[in-house]
Amino acid sequence: MVGAQRESGKQIIQNAVEYMKENNLLVDIAFIENGPVDAAQLDELHRLIGWDKKGRRTTAETEEMLRVSHFYVAAHTTDGQLVGFARVCGDPYIAQVLDVITHPDYRCRGIATECMRRVLAHLKRSNYLSVTLTDGSGIEDFYQRFGFQMMEDDAIARVWRRGTEATQELEQTSART
Ligand SMILES: CC(C)(COP(=O)(O)OP(=O)(O)OC[C@H]1O[C@@H](n2cnc3c(N)ncnc32)[C@H](O)[C@@H]1OP(=O)(O)O)[C@@H](O)C(=O)NCCC(=O)NCCS
Repeated sequence: MVGAQRESGKQIIQNAVEYMKENNLLVDIAFIENGPVDAAQLDELHRLIGWDKKGRRTTAETEEMLRVSHFYVAAHTTDGQLVGFARVCGDPYIAQVLDVITHPDYRCRGIATECMRRVLAHLKRSNYLSVTLTDGSGIEDFYQRFGFQMMEDDAIARVWRRGTEATQELEQTSART
């Protein structure tokens, strides 16, 4: 009898969780700003979505990254699993929004939206001259609702890729000077 009761109790919880998932409710997720984050879990999340293919990240550097970020928000399940993250880094004038991630099993429930809502509140409290991000979400207009507009001339944006610099040319230039 007790076993059967326990089973039906488990079923009730499972149904409730399913209901929350289906209805995009976030009552089972805790959002904490600038709080404790397990760097190893954050690295794992990066790896899970294919952002650390070369295994470049280290726990020590990720802890340092958290320390120097101006703002970050982490979403955890009630059993402590990190399932969402977003951060802002920069200096007093210039900021960049980075690492907006939701664990694949927890997507389309509003986690990134809630993280970005909190990022936006941080941006509004701040006095940055310029705030940018690179939209790789693949979700049309996702960032637009938070005030991120397309740059007029996208051709201006440049990304530095290690090892692609014209080494010989630069060496010749420095020899001339
Ligand atoms: C982009 C990402 C953070 C979105 O996370 P999420 O928690 O699923 O987002 P939300 O649940 O808050 O959904 C936001 C909106 O996008 C829509 N959306 C989410 N995933 C979608 C998908 N794959 N295709 C189409 N629309 C999608 C949602 O329906 C929602 O729209 P609505 O508010 O109008 O209903 C997540 O897909 C992810 O981690 N992707 C890999 C990392 C990445 O690319 N990050 C962005 C870097 S710029």
